[in-house]
Amino acid sequence: MKTPVIIVNSKAYKESTLSGDLKLANICKEVAEETGVNIIYAPQQVNLAYIAKSVNIPCFAQHVDAINPGSYTGHVSLLSIKEAGALGTLVNHSEKPMLIKDIDFIVSKAKEMDLETVVCTNNVSVTSSVAALEPTAIAVEPPELIGSGIPVSKAKPEIVEKSVEAVKKISDKVIVLCGAGISKGEDVKKAIELGTEGVLLASGVVKAKNPKEVLLDLASGIL
Ligand code: G3P
Repeated sequence: MKTPVIIVNSKAYKESTLSGDLKLANICKEVAEETGVNIIYAPQQVNLAYIAKSVNIPCFAQHVDAINPGSYTGHVSLLSIKEAGALGTLVNHSEKPMLIKDIDFIVSKAKEMDLETVVCTNNVSVTSSVAALEPTAIAVEPPELIGSGIPVSKAKPEIVEKSVEAVKKISDKVIVLCGAGISKGEDVKKAIELGTEGVLLASGVVKAKNPKEVLLDLASGIL
C-alpha cells in the first residue's frame, strides 16, 4: 500500500448508491491524478465490481466474511472481492465488528491471495492485539467520533500516538492509519504529525456539498 494514503469509505449512504458511488469514485480518481496522493475508494458492496471495472481507482471492499467459498447465503468471500477487482478490504469496521479468530482468518487468507487488509480498531489494546496478526494496515477509529465531524487527530491525539507506538513495538511492517471525524486537510496533517501514514474517512467526503473540494483540501494535508 503506497502511503501516505486517503481511504474513502462510502458506507451505505443514499449519496453512494450506484450513481453516487460512480460519481464519488471518479472524483477520487481526478484528485489522485491531480495531486499524486494515493486515494483508495471503498464503494457499497453491491457496487464493488462495477466501480472497480468502471473507474481507474484502487478499490477496497468495506467488509468480507470469514468464509471459504461455499454454501453461505448473503456472505462475501475474499475470492469474490478479488474477482470483482478489489485490491483489498476493510476488516472489523466498528459498524461491522468481528471476532479476533475471524480477523485472523481474513488477514492470513488475504496474504495468500495478495489482497491488502485494513483492520479497524477502536482503542490501543485492540490495536496491539490486531498488530500481532500483521495486516497491511490498522486504522484506529474511536467509534464515538465516527460521523461526528470531530477529528480523532484533534480530539484524541493520545489514542493515535499510543496506537502508533503499540503497533511499532510489535511490527514495523504494519501501516497505521486513523479515522473518525476527518474532514479537512489540517486533520490529515495532524494525523501524519502524530505518526500515522494516512486516514480513513466517510461522511466528510461522501455527504459533502462539493466532495471534490473537500478531497482536494484533504490531499493538501499530505502535500
Ligand atoms: O470508515 C471510516 C469511517 O468510519 C469514519 O467515518 O464519517 O467520521 O469519516 P466519518
